[in-house]
Amino acid sequence: MDKLLIHGGTPLFGEVDISGAKNAALPILCACLLTAEPLHLRNVPQLNDISTMLRLIAQMGVEVTMDGSDGLILDSRGLNNPVAPYDMVKTMRASIMVLGPLVARCGEARVSLPGGCAIGARPVDQHIKGLQAMGAEILVEQGYVHATVKRLKGARIITDMVTVTGTENLMMAAVLADGETIIENAAREPEVVDLANCLNAMGARVAGAGTDHIVIQGVELLHGATHSIMPDRIETGTYLCAAAVTGGNIRLTNTSATYLDSVVVKLLETGCEVTAESNVISLKAPPRLKAVSVRTSPYPGFPTDMQAQFMAINSVADGTAVIRETIFENRFMHAVELIRLGADIKIDASNATVTGVPHLDGATVMATDLRASASLVIAGLVAQGETLIERIYHLDRGYERIEEKLTRLGASVRRVR
Ligand code: EPZ
Repeated sequence: MDKLLIHGGTPLFGEVDISGAKNAALPILCACLLTAEPLHLRNVPQLNDISTMLRLIAQMGVEVTMDGSDGLILDSRGLNNPVAPYDMVKTMRASIMVLGPLVARCGEARVSLPGGCAIGARPVDQHIKGLQAMGAEILVEQGYVHATVKRLKGARIITDMVTVTGTENLMMAAVLADGETIIENAAREPEVVDLANCLNAMGARVAGAGTDHIVIQGVELLHGATHSIMPDRIETGTYLCAAAVTGGNIRLTNTSATYLDSVVVKLLETGCEVTAESNVISLKAPPRLKAVSVRTSPYPGFPTDMQAQFMAINSVADGTAVIRETIFENRFMHAVELIRLGADIKIDASNATVTGVPHLDGATVMATDLRASASLVIAGLVAQGETLIERIYHLDRGYERIEEKLTRLGASVRRVR
């Protein structure tokens, strides 16, 4: 398995481009199942999770072609196998998002339950409950969700909690349903809005995306469209943290600060200067950061996907920070790895108390999930000496060309097979 070898201590300087958002691209890839006409997607990030989703829809009968630049053309005219098998779903939970589109387009679907993952049980009961409310017959047996319906019927759905992919799955089911669907307590994430924009370009009638009250008027058919994936706000935040902790000064292009207010506010509190133009965000860091406490919550609150990165920067900041994780029940696995690098972190249920130490010392550490691995990269960039990060396949799921982008910013990082 690949490892990443980082020699820490170099401030990051320079400019890199941000890739398309993984968590917008994944549901939008599933949206191609809703129409028999080609869907042309631009700014699709080249990530393992994207390749996994493309393999999943290709085995259903979707034709996937490159458009010669950074885009894809997805043609599901030949869709003939509405099945998502366990051996593919188990590697990526977002596969559950084929369920809504398949039921809407084919009237049936057989999708493996994703099972848990490192950061929590992550059930999909809200996805199932919403489809049942729209009239789908759902049987869960032998680890699969079997859904059948003649045609989904619009319904008023109130999810028990804010769920991002649950909102996206149900939105995609509703666009072809008979009548009006209302999703209350909907997720307000920008990726939900990007999906809605793509669906509306395909002829859907989705209103209210970005609020907790989404109204969808079902239509008979959707047509093809061209859509450019929004920039990845979590990749943006990750590079901002890497520059912040190393005393660097960087410029990120093809991105936007619009969706990162809660993260930018926290970075300003650490003592960084952050400036944003139209599709550029820059950060200039002080020699040493001030500790800053965070509490994760659904958008527009502080994103849980940035929690691990802030634990890393707080480990060498002045003062003590409290990090409170409210979304997932087991999302502190990076803490023990950061402690191996010399961090002073105390975990108490969903609270982590981080007391900044003068410096971290390089060591061998192990990635456990996508954002945990990002926090280990950030720690490795500021630690004295060499840090070897094992199991970086987690990293490759969500960060495109990471060692190339970090090298361009002056970091000493290389992949060892
Ligand atoms: C999405 O996951 C993201 N993934 C996650 O990003 C992100 O951390 C998460 O939203 C929260 O923002 C994608 O968009 C592909 P949820 P999702 O449903 O939709 C519980 C990354 O690093 N829940 O919003 O799976 C659930 O257990 C990934 O890029 C139910 O109980 O998260 C969790 O505690 C990691 N039943 C909470 O709700 C359900 O049916 C929020 O989960 C659905 C969710």
